[in-house]
Amino acid sequence: MARPFWFFLLHNAFLVLFCSTVSCARRHFQQQQPQEPSYLKFVYNATAFPSEDSYDYIIVGGGTAGSPLAATISESFKVLVLERGGVPYGKHNLMTQEGFLTTLMEVDTYNSPAQAFTSEDGVPNARGRVLGGSSAINAGFYSRADKDFYQKSGMDWDLRVVNESYEWVEKAVVFRPDLRNWQSAVRDGLLEAGVDPYNGFNLNHVVGTKIGGSTFDSSGRRHSAADLLSYAKSLNIRVAVYASVERILLASSSADSGAKRTAIGVVYRDAIGQYHHAMLRENGEVMVCAGAIGSPQLLLLSGIGPRPYLSSWGIPVAFHNPHVGQYLYDNPRNGISIVPPIPLDHSLIQVVGITELGAYLEAASNVIPFASPAQSIFIRTPSSPLYLTVATLMEKIIGPASSGTLRLASTDVRVNPIVRFNYFSNPVDIERCINGTRKIGDVLRSRSMDIFKFRERFGARNFRFVGPALPVDQSDHAQMAEFCHRTVSTIWHYHGGCVVGKVVDGELRVLGIDAVRVVDGSTFDISPGTNPQAALMMLGRYVGLKILKERSRNR
Ligand SMILES: Cc1cc2nc3c(=O)[nH]c(=O)nc-3n(C[C@H](O)[C@H](O)[C@H](O)COP(=O)(O)OP(=O)(O)OC[C@H]3O[C@@H](n4cnc5c(N)ncnc54)[C@H](O)[C@@H]3O)c2cc1C
Ligand SMILES: *[C@@H]1O[C@H](CO)[C@@H](O)[C@H](O)[C@H]1NC(C)=O
Ligand SMILES: *[C@@H]1O[C@H](CO)[C@@H](O)[C@H](O)[C@H]1NC(C)=O
Ligand SMILES: *[C@@H]1O[C@H](CO)[C@@H](O)[C@H](O)[C@H]1NC(C)=O
Repeated sequence: MARPFWFFLLHNAFLVLFCSTVSCARRHFQQQQPQEPSYLKFVYNATAFPSEDSYDYIIVGGGTAGSPLAATISESFKVLVLERGGVPYGKHNLMTQEGFLTTLMEVDTYNSPAQAFTSEDGVPNARGRVLGGSSAINAGFYSRADKDFYQKSGMDWDLRVVNESYEWVEKAVVFRPDLRNWQSAVRDGLLEAGVDPYNGFNLNHVVGTKIGGSTFDSSGRRHSAADLLSYAKSLNIRVAVYASVERILLASSSADSGAKRTAIGVVYRDAIGQYHHAMLRENGEVMVCAGAIGSPQLLLLSGIGPRPYLSSWGIPVAFHNPHVGQYLYDNPRNGISIVPPIPLDHSLIQVVGITELGAYLEAASNVIPFASPAQSIFIRTPSSPLYLTVATLMEKIIGPASSGTLRLASTDVRVNPIVRFNYFSNPVDIERCINGTRKIGDVLRSRSMDIFKFRERFGARNFRFVGPALPVDQSDHAQMAEFCHRTVSTIWHYHGGCVVGKVVDGELRVLGIDAVRVVDGSTFDISPGTNPQAALMMLGRYVGLKILKERSRNR
């Protein structure tokens, strides 16, 4: 499915804002430079690292789960973080709410902080390539996992430690957002549409309508998992940026070719193409935190995966596991966008409707510059045709039940694997989508939405949709199903590929190999809560605390 550019604008990057450009420009210039984050003192360009060194823990991927994990373990052990991207600090688009869309649109193959990929389903998508991982390019909405998640995840959670881990994260990077006009109207519209009760500002997963947390602070500045590195013990941690891990080094404990392999380190490459070895000290572990695309890819490149498949690439097989790269999921997003008759404040996600219909409703509002970035620095009037103000209402289904696969496109780790999510291949998912989009219809019919309609001739009031509108007859199952298929896009909550019980055990250790764990969203076979970043940051802290405890017990 080829999609026109407007589709990307409208559906991949859910159009957020307004910014009557004058006030917006002024706001930018008034923002004072934030204080340098303290993690910068132990972050170095990988080119500065020795060609070989040893550590207790090697963390592959300084992302959403990897950063809190590294910070926690550094309390007692020597830790190396290897991150293929750079540092988000100092990059205006990454560090501000207004830069969200620009970051997603400014993609190049090897260097941009957002690495674009399009699944075989035809849906454009993105993954973080920067310290902080996808939490440094995301929409910032923060909401803890639902209770079911802990039961269904296959891990034996200690819920007291889960709560402590969330609190540790929230103290550092989570803020209460201020609602402006679009988010307030959506909150009221959800309540009118029966998504109740109203739970106010709440970080927990509770049925009804609520304001969630945000990793953007009151001045619109982004905080991400990278900030959690500031908790680290600086003497014990080194972070290498522009360090692309190519392979986990595995050794046999005996000459027997069938003997169980153990990780002994990793090989990584720096920005000028030089190779480095990072080796494990006794009792150390490699922690793969490269995300739902990066982690299965790295296991495959290291010879952990389906034997015939690896052999077809000429990759020596270390452990045959047919499930690596399978059970890959993405939650479909569907919804509508309108151009309102009144100015809208810019907003990413702040309010969520948690229904019992198998779907969650969220909203965003944005100004889309149709001028080139260079032109748009000139101040224009809000009525300038160069800007389009768009408000979006969307739903994400829970689960999903439909799953797909990941395959290598190359043995070069920098090249995106080929992924397919098979959206709606399980009929349950289409029912959830129909339920969710019908609820969007209910919200659009609420009184709170009236001010976003244009006054037409003869007193009629109508929305002006950008892109597809909902079917007129929303009771028609076939039309609604067709709408779901036709307008599917992603909310970027893809997960799986190394799921618990198939690729890793309940303690996230890779099956069949010693001294390697996977700690990130690739281990989930269901997306936690309404939005996953809270659970992923918690997971990093949680596993770190567990390891500290295990090691102190064995001392
Ligand atoms: C555009 C967008 C908007 C989103 N909005 C929200 C939202 O509002 N709220 C929410 O909760 N969630 C949101 N999400 C989802 C959420 O951000 C992700 O699910 C989460 O960040 C994934 O965390 P992770 O730790 O699994 O992987 P990541 O955070 O992606 O971390 C993986 C890290 O590994 C690095 N890496 C990969 N391969 C290698 C390698 N070979 N060598 C070295 N480093 C490597 C990557 O560069 C990256 O830093 C959004 C995601 C995106 C992309
Ligand atoms: C990292 O170091 C190399 C070699 O000194 C240099 O070419 C590269 O530009 C550096 N990258 C950054 C982003 O500093
Ligand atoms: C964890 O926090 C949740 C939400 O506040 C609460 O409902 C639950 O009882 C807490 N669990 C434990 C074990 O403290
Ligand atoms: C869709 O909503 C109905 C209630 O209107 C509910 O009974 C049904 O379980 C929902 N479907 C799914 C798949 O959740």
